[in-house]
Amino acid sequence: MTDTIILAVETSCDETAVAVVKNGTEVLAEVVASQISTHQKFGGVVPEVASRKHLELINISIEEALEQANLTFSEITHFAVTYGPGLVGALLVGVATAKAMAFAAQKPLIGVHHIEGHVYANFLTHNDIEFPVVCLIVSGGHTTLVEITDYGKYQFLGQTRDDAAGEAFDKVARALGLGYPGGPKIEECAREGSNTAIKLPRSWLEDGSYDFSFSGLKSAVLNYLNKQEMKKEAININDVAASFQEAVIEVLSEKTLRAAKEAQVKTILLAGGVAANKALREDLSDRCSKLGIRLVYPPIKYCTDNAAMIGCAAHYKALRGEFAELNLNAVPNLKFGVS
Ligand code: KG4
Ligand code: ZN
Repeated sequence: MTDTIILAVETSCDETAVAVVKNGTEVLAEVVASQISTHQKFGGVVPEVASRKHLELINISIEEALEQANLTFSEITHFAVTYGPGLVGALLVGVATAKAMAFAAQKPLIGVHHIEGHVYANFLTHNDIEFPVVCLIVSGGHTTLVEITDYGKYQFLGQTRDDAAGEAFDKVARALGLGYPGGPKIEECAREGSNTAIKLPRSWLEDGSYDFSFSGLKSAVLNYLNKQEMKKEAININDVAASFQEAVIEVLSEKTLRAAKEAQVKTILLAGGVAANKALREDLSDRCSKLGIRLVYPPIKYCTDNAAMIGCAAHYKALRGEFAELNLNAVPNLKFGVS
């Protein structure tokens, strides 16, 4: 196959992102127009505001990406877009734009699952990953363990039964008055706190289960905060953040390692926004090195939402001839790993 030069668009949540990726690994351009400051005023992402912002930002982001890549529209070989899961109005902006570009340029369109994009952030930045691998995907909407036996071949192992890990970080951060997005703020506070200061539960679920549950932990933190307030006792935010973060990491790391051992894989991948968490990376890295398992994770900028990871996933879809029709629609609750 000749070179792929893919223009990828990602608008599933609160980042308007456009990238140009050559052959799945060479990032020729990347633009991430973050809406964080817009949504901070509201303490979280407001879907309607996100859609409007995407509309404002999408065309200039595409122009900027083409300029960065020093390419003209006609040199793009494929157009790729995240079509789910995510906020429907936000997704629609990206999907409609990518369809219009593919139609105008008469080039193939590729629809990418947002979570599959997160997984491919690893292949974008590492060209020496050997299958099979176990991948822990931890984002604002997902906590999923999968075994990957080849590009695009997933064996679904487990997922959260309630809150996603990132969602738990965001909710606890909000309760602590740390604002949005919560993950990086909790991580910052946790660095100054003691992770054994407050006893918090770990939800292991049934023996052998690779599912997760974080709502009990979140409630335990909220109860602790309420009790301290009622007793008029001081709350050490750093200690709460550190103890909470430790409880999340312990369960994520244990289950991921167990899955890797059981599947007898030699490599673990980490993906999604929570993969930016240094304490999680360090904990998994320590455990992996003891067992001779290789741990791979993307640089921080490719852990959180971006379009380069979508361009990489699209490259492998192009190799498999998996193209979308021009009637591609946004699918807000698109499933992953169940097929
Ligand atoms: O992957 P992502 O950018 O968007 C989704 O697909 O959801 O993930 C966002 C999530 C948020 O919940 C955010 O709080 C969390 O990732 N996050 C972190 C960190 N950076 C982002 N959680 C823990 N530690 C971090 N450093
Ligand atoms: Zn994401």
